[in-house]
Amino acid sequence: MRLTYRSGGESHGKGMVAILEGLPKGLAIDTDAIDAQLARRQRGYGRSGRQQIERDRVEVLGGVRHGKTLEAPLVLFVANKDTSIESMPEPTRPRPGHADLSGCYRHGDRDIRANIERSSARETCARVAAGAVAQQLLAALGAEVLGHVVGIGDAFARDPSEEPGSAFAGLETFEHARAAIAASDFGVLDGAREPALRAAIDAAIRDKDSLGGVVEVVARGVPAGLGSFAQWDQRLDGRLAQALLSIPAFKSVEIGLGHVAAQRPGSRVHDEIGRDGTRLVRRSNAAGGIEGGVTNGQLLVVRGAKKPIATLRRRLASVDLATGDDAPAAFERSDVCAVPAAACIAEAMVALVLAGAALELYGGATMSQFVAAHDWHVREVARIDACGEAGGGTRGAVGPGPVSA
Ligand SMILES: Cc1cc2nc3c(=O)[nH]c(=O)nc-3n(C[C@H](O)[C@H](O)[C@H](O)COP(=O)(O)O)c2cc1C
Repeated sequence: MRLTYRSGGESHGKGMVAILEGLPKGLAIDTDAIDAQLARRQRGYGRSGRQQIERDRVEVLGGVRHGKTLEAPLVLFVANKDTSIESMPEPTRPRPGHADLSGCYRHGDRDIRANIERSSARETCARVAAGAVAQQLLAALGAEVLGHVVGIGDAFARDPSEEPGSAFAGLETFEHARAAIAASDFGVLDGAREPALRAAIDAAIRDKDSLGGVVEVVARGVPAGLGSFAQWDQRLDGRLAQALLSIPAFKSVEIGLGHVAAQRPGSRVHDEIGRDGTRLVRRSNAAGGIEGGVTNGQLLVVRGAKKPIATLRRRLASVDLATGDDAPAAFERSDVCAVPAAACIAEAMVALVLAGAALELYGGATMSQFVAAHDWHVREVARIDACGEAGGGTRGAVGPGPVSA
């Protein structure tokens, strides 16, 4: 079973459509939970006025009956409030850092508006809606995904030398962490860090500038064994990297320790294996939960860095494509900082990748087949962990294994 996600729609068109194909029959779709994620994507200190006029709500257009999936394509729609695509201004001064000029090169014309309409991050509301459904699928396996902000500009919300995801390691559930992050205007777990982040954004607003930042996505309860090393494009770390780098303005991705691992000797990087009763345990999580492109049952930790917003009130130098004259870049309503929203989008993308990998491993035309295959696999993993002890030789004789990080 393969999970595919596509989207359609323009920033100032009628709205955004998300199509998810490959979901088993019988997944209950919670539209309130999708709307809660859409609301989170719109929040955050430093967003533009547009977020005040849009109140995103999902509408299910197909694939559901009596609130449950039909094993048909799931079609979701999020309406735009600003639908003025036909009368929007036609900019002629491309913004550095946006798709304005590169899109013109691609199409061989000067139609900047066409490039803005689809390269706009408005498209990410479709990802968040689809990702919320992926999270509902993962919940059936006891897995949870959560994105939060690590830093904005050079103001870090946590010590960058901390072990990846350490604030979340050992949590039985993300329930409280999720509520704290969703309530924060800065998307952080620790409210004590907010003043520094607020000051960074205020300074950017004063300077008519913009800011980027770093977000982290953690996932607990992810089954060990998702992903594959059989082909380059099946490695889960590579798939996560593409998913995150595809988010507008994301410029780098790290798994676990990421680039810090390159600076350390192997003895300070690789997570040693020990035993705790009938479980195999790790003494650290530098790998961020993936070895050889396959999940290892530890907390999954992925980080993405987002560059600053490309539309600046302090206009950057550009050229008017109509006249050939030097001219300041065009400005239209824009965020100063969208890092908290980016954490929510990154969460959605990780959920889509993990849900896809779980469907590949467990298959199933129905949710009960999908969950049964998972439960069988969990017992197999527990057998490996038991190392032949405690009835480990009999399939299913050992209780739940270390699948929940
Ligand atoms: C949540 C979010 C909101 C964004 N808001 C804006 C914005 O208001 N103005 C802007 O110029 N860019 C914004 N961006 C970034 C652009 O969409 C992005 O820079 C552009 O598509 C060019 O792609 P690239 O930066 O990956 O090269 C936003 C990105 C995200 C993830």
